[in-house]
Amino acid sequence: MKNITNICCIGAGYVGGPTMSVIAQKNPHIKVTCVDLNEARINAWNDDNLDNLPIYEPGLAEVVKEARGRNLFFSTEVDEAIDKADMIFISVNTPTKTYGEGKGKAADLKYIELCARQIARVAKDDKIIVEKSTLPVKTAEALKSILHNTGNGVSYQILSNPEFLAEGTAIQDLQNADRVLIGGDDTEEGREAMQQLVNIYASWLPQERILTTNVWSSELSKLVANAFLAQRVSSINAISELCEVTGADVSEVSRSIGMDSRIGSKFLKASVGFGGSCFQKDILNLVYIASSLGLQEVADYWEQVILMNDYQKHRFARKIVKTLYNTVADKKIAFLGWAFKKDTNDTRESAAIYVAEKLLQEQANISIYDPKVKKEQIITDLENLGTLDPEAIHKRITVVSNPYEAMKEAHAVAILTEWDEFAAYDWQKVYDNMMKPAFIFDGRGILDLKNLTKIGFQLFSLGKSNTAVK
Ligand SMILES: NC(=O)c1ccc[n+]([C@@H]2O[C@H](COP(=O)([O-])OP(=O)(O)OC[C@H]3O[C@@H](n4cnc5c(N)ncnc54)[C@H](O)[C@@H]3O)[C@@H](O)[C@H]2O)c1
Repeated sequence: MKNITNICCIGAGYVGGPTMSVIAQKNPHIKVTCVDLNEARINAWNDDNLDNLPIYEPGLAEVVKEARGRNLFFSTEVDEAIDKADMIFISVNTPTKTYGEGKGKAADLKYIELCARQIARVAKDDKIIVEKSTLPVKTAEALKSILHNTGNGVSYQILSNPEFLAEGTAIQDLQNADRVLIGGDDTEEGREAMQQLVNIYASWLPQERILTTNVWSSELSKLVANAFLAQRVSSINAISELCEVTGADVSEVSRSIGMDSRIGSKFLKASVGFGGSCFQKDILNLVYIASSLGLQEVADYWEQVILMNDYQKHRFARKIVKTLYNTVADKKIAFLGWAFKKDTNDTRESAAIYVAEKLLQEQANISIYDPKVKKEQIITDLENLGTLDPEAIHKRITVVSNPYEAMKEAHAVAILTEWDEFAAYDWQKVYDNMMKPAFIFDGRGILDLKNLTKIGFQLFSLGKSNTAVK
């Protein structure tokens, strides 16, 4: 069995970039090349100034600094990297289909298929192909079929190695993974290929955290993990509304149930809803798979997680409108946060986008501050909805780099992301400069309610009933 000395990863995004950086850091004897069609993204990965990396993740710049140029490379030369690699990770995007059969639910596998065809065209010697992207069950089968039928006598082993990192803690999650999952064929060649990948992870993780399974279990496990995590968010969000009307406090309920070791304390924080590129897309995919197999009850059960999440975002936006005397037209609303969670610049499916959409439809003016998200991204996110007049977006959206400016003379402040810095602001100063009554809508439960109430704010916090705004 030839040892792996050269790895290529197709897709230098939120998964490919950090994952390959850590693999290269921990395996200095292996050359790792991360390739992407997006030239601007690759240039940013190669930027001398590490502040300009295309992805913000705590600890990422340090890892890139250590490995880049030593055994970690970023390039747009996809063919060359494929040709030289013994092992190829596919880490391209797998968005929800926006057309044809399965529109709005199934995963769009066109980028995956293009990769497979490109590998088949270029490869001259045997390769191990690793599915890193999140894929529907049985995708490995499709990859195998494309590679074996269009290749030139080259032999391929397909492994599934889904990624469980969370944005915002990606480096920590990679360096200290709870588990790594590797699915492969139960044949001699399949087991050998799995062992090669196990060896790469074993250079920094204990063997007992590296699980090997069959390919389909591995593919399905990733979808199920995301479905379970998202389900917890929707479950506690459903309870948050019940708390508001019964006098309970959702954070007290979370703490109480989280101390039950069968339930556990993580992912029990009420919020304006989950976002990110994965949860919604992966559950929709699960729903589609179940429904295509005739398992309608299973599909309906999981779809409810998405419906609850949509409801929570809309409910939050409606609360703002209703509280501001049923009209936000031409009023200034300040948004703190745009990213889908703290410690990332990723805005895909962020709750902020949908709350802004609703408020813009009500003709509000929105002033936005996020420590890591740029104006162009915010405008693109709103334009991509396709439901808003682009002129109105430009007229009504302001993006500022100073939070106090965002909140100055605002009628209300809405907390959309849980960035730590928000809790530490001089809220007395904010209050003094706001319109009165000064409303705050805390969609993340991060502010000190007692202190803010004392200052004079009228507060709404999801899942709490002891606030001025019910
Ligand atoms: N973002 C996460 O937190 C996360 C976590 C676990 C798993 N995943 C999964 O990982 C996969 C990638 O997600 P991401 O967030 O990194 O996506 P991304 O959009 O950030 O990155 C994908 C990259 O692939 C590139 N690409 C597409 N087709 C290509 C091709 N043919 N050749 C070269 N480059 C190509 C794109 O230009 C893009 O830069 C998805 O399947 C996702 O579900 C994501």
